[in-house]
Amino acid sequence: MVNFKEEIAKIISGHIDGLSEQDIYNMIEIPQDSKMGDYAFPCFKLAKTLRKAPPMIASDIAAKIGDNSIFEKVEQVNAYVNMFISKEELVKDVIVEVLKEGEDYGKTDIGGGKTVIVEFSSPNIAKPFHIGHIRSTVIGNSINKIYKAMGYNVVRINHLGDYGTQFGKMICAYRHWGNKEDVIKEPIKTLLHYYTKFHEEVDNHPELDDEARQIFTKLEHGEKEETELWQWFRDESLKEFNRVYKMLGIEFDSYAGESFYSDKMPQVVQMLKDNNLIEKSQGAEIVDLEPYGLTPALITKSDGSSLYITRDIAASVYRKNTYDFYKNIYVVASQQNLHFQQWIKIIELLGFDWARDNIHVPFGLVSLEEGTMSTRHGRVVFLEDVLNRAVEQTKEIIKEKGVNTDNIEETAKQVGIGAVVFQELSNNRIKDYVFSWNKVLDFNGETGPYVQYTYARAASVLRNAGQEACAKALDAHNINPEYITGDSAYELAKLIYALPQTIVDAGEKYEPSVVTRHIVNLAQAFNRFYHDEHILVDNEEEKITKLAMVAAAKTAIKNGLALLGMEAPERM
Ligand code: ARG
Repeated sequence: MVNFKEEIAKIISGHIDGLSEQDIYNMIEIPQDSKMGDYAFPCFKLAKTLRKAPPMIASDIAAKIGDNSIFEKVEQVNAYVNMFISKEELVKDVIVEVLKEGEDYGKTDIGGGKTVIVEFSSPNIAKPFHIGHIRSTVIGNSINKIYKAMGYNVVRINHLGDYGTQFGKMICAYRHWGNKEDVIKEPIKTLLHYYTKFHEEVDNHPELDDEARQIFTKLEHGEKEETELWQWFRDESLKEFNRVYKMLGIEFDSYAGESFYSDKMPQVVQMLKDNNLIEKSQGAEIVDLEPYGLTPALITKSDGSSLYITRDIAASVYRKNTYDFYKNIYVVASQQNLHFQQWIKIIELLGFDWARDNIHVPFGLVSLEEGTMSTRHGRVVFLEDVLNRAVEQTKEIIKEKGVNTDNIEETAKQVGIGAVVFQELSNNRIKDYVFSWNKVLDFNGETGPYVQYTYARAASVLRNAGQEACAKALDAHNINPEYITGDSAYELAKLIYALPQTIVDAGEKYEPSVVTRHIVNLAQAFNRFYHDEHILVDNEEEKITKLAMVAAAKTAIKNGLALLGMEAPERM
């Protein structure tokens, strides 16, 4: 596809000395207000070298480049050269490109196959997979897809919280009060119950604490019975997590969680000692980070057991050695900001120049309309229940609206789950937000169902046009852009054109909401086009051209939704 910005840089550079094509490229802006053109070139910087007032320079440039065929018109306004791309050129170019690329439209190869790790979801074994976890899961999944679309080789890691002293407590509780059948029936709720029970009992029976600690030590030493129990808890929990991942269509390449690093810890501690970073403090080993304005990092406890942060240091070193990553991205709540600052600093102090390639992508809290969640007070909402409820409610809405669908179960799943995902990815990730049922399932607001509905509408136009006409629309020779130069067609084409760059922007900011917003704009632009233009007209050439536009918009919406981890129903 023509890269108009590059093209413009080339054209302008033919008329001014002293600035490279790249410099010019970097200076070109996209005006907020499309009345000021599709692109604008500010001339302030040139005043010194050219010894002329910026408006004069702008007017010279405008006069020189104005009759180039890629422009409809070029104007000087104050110090700016405002350029309007030829509508026909852009519209045709976009349609032909999208229809040629199909589901690859939007991809770039900026990544050049470099390896990027995206660590996301990472729930804790035997703890509820609640609505709070949806953020890491859904944001991380989208970031992974965005990086793939940018041509990176992405490794998706689920750093399961499957290790730590709590497993000593859980095994201890299981031995005292547990039974196998309950765990199999409802693993997470049951294990959580054991864990709570342990805490209730320990107040009156402090010896339980010692018992639990000894069990954990045995686990750390790989003793058979403890390891088997732990492994079983882990397997059962994972089954439950996997049910949710399946509903969301999410997969991982590795489940190497905290336990995976248990045997790699001594090397880390040794490395820290070799670099004189370890200090003793009340029997424990710490790294003092005060010179960097951070609280000390606790590396090993006084009883010798390792800690969360030690495992993160080990994990990062392991990943560098194993994958030689270009970036190692962590999608983890902002509550853990300090933790990430600490261990990334320690990697730096170990002398690894790739410390800066470890990137924490934080996100804000999600709360419920009735208040924040609290495991302890039983105010947790299980993610699986939320997804199921979304599907059920969507089914009701579909029935009520008399939506036409050949498979109500499937459509309700796509739309219901999509709605939750879309809402999650609509806000800037760092913002706290309140989960609201009304907003999630609104078919008219800027929601998932709205976008999917728009997609289905485009699909329906193409169905109504018939296969023969649609096949013709795929052939560039049949497209005559003269028929689609109306404002709404042009706005739609511009948004489709901007999709690849939008994906790159989202990737660089680790911000899927950039894509979400763009898709909403696309859907709105499509609906305006649909409203303004009569598509299935008698004139064959005009009809085919408009159908091609519909097909291009449909593909762009579908590809955008796929980056959020959402499906696009053909009917609804
Ligand atoms: N399991 C942790 C939690 O649920 C999140 C793990 C984040 N990842 C990491 N590498 N520390 O809070």
